[in-house]
Amino acid sequence: MSVAEKISRLRKTLLEHNRRYYVEDDPIISDAEYDRLLRDLEELEKRHPELITPDSPTQRVGAAPLKAFGSITHRQPLLSLANAMNEEEIYAFDASVKKGLELETDIDYVAEPKLDGLAVELVYENGYFAYGSTRGDGTTGEDITQNLRTIRAIPLKLRDDLTPPQLLEVRGEVFMNKVDFEKMNTRRLERGEAPFANPRNASAGSLRQLDARITAGRPLRIYCYSKGHITDMAFTSHHEFLAALPRWGFPVNPLIERGRGAEFLVDFFHRMEARRNELPYEIDGVVFKVDSLAQQDQLGVRSRNPRWAIAGKFKAQQVTTVVNDIEVQVGRTGALTPVAKLAPVTVGGVVVSNATLHNQDEIRRKDIRIGDTVLIQRAGDVIPEVVKVITAKRPPNAKVYLLPDDCPVCGHRVSRPEGEVVARCQNMACPAQVKGRIEHFAAKNCLNIEGFGVKLVDQLVEKKLLSDVAGIYELTRAQLAGLERMGEKSAANIIAEIEKSKKTTLARFIFALGIRNVGEHAAKLLEQAFSGDLDRLRRTSFDELIAIPEIGDIMAQSILDFFADASNAGIIDRLLAQGITFKAVLKPESSALAGKTFVFTGSLEKFSRSEAKVMVEKRGARASGSVSSKTDYLVAGPGAGSKLARARELGIRILSEAEFLQMIKNQMSEGAMP
Ligand code: IVH
Repeated sequence: MSVAEKISRLRKTLLEHNRRYYVEDDPIISDAEYDRLLRDLEELEKRHPELITPDSPTQRVGAAPLKAFGSITHRQPLLSLANAMNEEEIYAFDASVKKGLELETDIDYVAEPKLDGLAVELVYENGYFAYGSTRGDGTTGEDITQNLRTIRAIPLKLRDDLTPPQLLEVRGEVFMNKVDFEKMNTRRLERGEAPFANPRNASAGSLRQLDARITAGRPLRIYCYSKGHITDMAFTSHHEFLAALPRWGFPVNPLIERGRGAEFLVDFFHRMEARRNELPYEIDGVVFKVDSLAQQDQLGVRSRNPRWAIAGKFKAQQVTTVVNDIEVQVGRTGALTPVAKLAPVTVGGVVVSNATLHNQDEIRRKDIRIGDTVLIQRAGDVIPEVVKVITAKRPPNAKVYLLPDDCPVCGHRVSRPEGEVVARCQNMACPAQVKGRIEHFAAKNCLNIEGFGVKLVDQLVEKKLLSDVAGIYELTRAQLAGLERMGEKSAANIIAEIEKSKKTTLARFIFALGIRNVGEHAAKLLEQAFSGDLDRLRRTSFDELIAIPEIGDIMAQSILDFFADASNAGIIDRLLAQGITFKAVLKPESSALAGKTFVFTGSLEKFSRSEAKVMVEKRGARASGSVSSKTDYLVAGPGAGSKLARARELGIRILSEAEFLQMIKNQMSEGAMP
């Protein structure tokens, strides 16, 4: 047998085992045997690099890490689903489908488990995986092609059991099995890395790695469940499309069922809820879809939700466990947050050992004592909470807990102002606060300094190399290279990231400063109101601030107090001296759309009415509900009727959704407005 033949055989064998494992869920060899075959192939390819093809199972990890993700605009938007929280709402969904279709007879549905992972789109051109993206805002997502290639369950080349169309867009959910998640977290803890909170976060975090080699080491899977654009191929029903997927090599959840009428939906909902904990992965509900594609079209889309589908959400999961202890965490604002240390317990397949108790009043209100048995619940992403104490199980030695009078980190006095629920350490120099402020400053939605996380900040503050946010820009490469687990190369990378962060926006900067009561949204309002000019903001007055819509007395006072503080002023001056600059802000008055009036009509598919309103208002224009001689533009989606006719009569300029977006985009190139 020639080498070429050997290679081709090995590839076929590997592909077949891969398919048996991920698509059929019926492997016939062990993981070790699979890995051995893969190594054999790697050996052969190493000696004959001319025989390597891009779809070879060895070619899942690309070479160099990326600097940033590009963006990809979806050909068809990735919609989201409205929720049904109980049986009644499921019946109401079925009734609205029947009404929309003007049918009395039972509807055919497909019912699917709703996986709690990350939605992605995979695009195949002429049978080969071309690129893939996250859902993003539904219209545009991030280009995560390199990372998706590392997921073994995603075919790089379509099987030709069914002839692949020229263009095929498939959507699905990337997720992790619970056991794989636990194993991965155990390994992370052993290596001194922070564990992920839950499989969903772990999947999302893994897919958002700029270095695909990291993603490759994460146990990601996928189940595919819907289609985007497909050329020269007509399906008449959703189940027919689902049946085609495995023939191309895509994994589809085997628990998906087809059935008729509302009773089927309700029954499926209850059966899945009962099985929820035995499933190998997390589900947070079920998804019901009208099966006929013609009926789906007829029902259409309302704002961003299809009228032909709904998510049936499960209730939060609850279990009981024991409070072994209560500890206090000190945040960046000095706030003391009590945290219950629990006897580890599995909730919905994930081990939980902490629950937030919020503050002293909450502890008193719920009367939570150390030693108590408590009912805790976890809902999706959020940190587990104590629902109530099972008082019947209270041991005689259960201990009442009071927050300490002194900060557990720095020993400074803690105070709780009249009328406030939060107790705070008043020492601005408290290491917990210092670390918290620096971590926040460097965080993703602030100055976004990649690699400047908790571990690094801890070390720098403890070694007294860093005591405030301005100090970040005064760090040297030699100082960083001298730290634990840090080489010359990583030190240089971090310095480069720090340098890069200097070009930012005023909104990010304001949020990063951590001014009390000023969140991300308020920071954007301030950026707009002060046209990106920090000096003007620093010299502002109470009256000027409260004249800004959405900014009230309390926030205005916090802002004034912050800038009046001499040590804050010193830090800001140092930051500016280090070369922090802000991108220009497009002022609504200077926008070509200023003063124009828009009317939106028809079923909008690319954005909702409220999103459209925000887009035009940001540019100094107005959205109105009715067409008149004062209307400048009518944006018409499918199904537009009388308003479109009236606009035509009046000779008003008519735009499609795409033309409108283009217009908005052209406006954007002038400045940095989102
Ligand atoms: S269908 C119009 N099917 O739930 C169809 N979504 O809010 C929209 N999801 O972003 C999606 N399992 O991340 C669909 N079997 C399933 C799903 C599913 C999980 C997620 C997906 C989507 C969100 C819907």
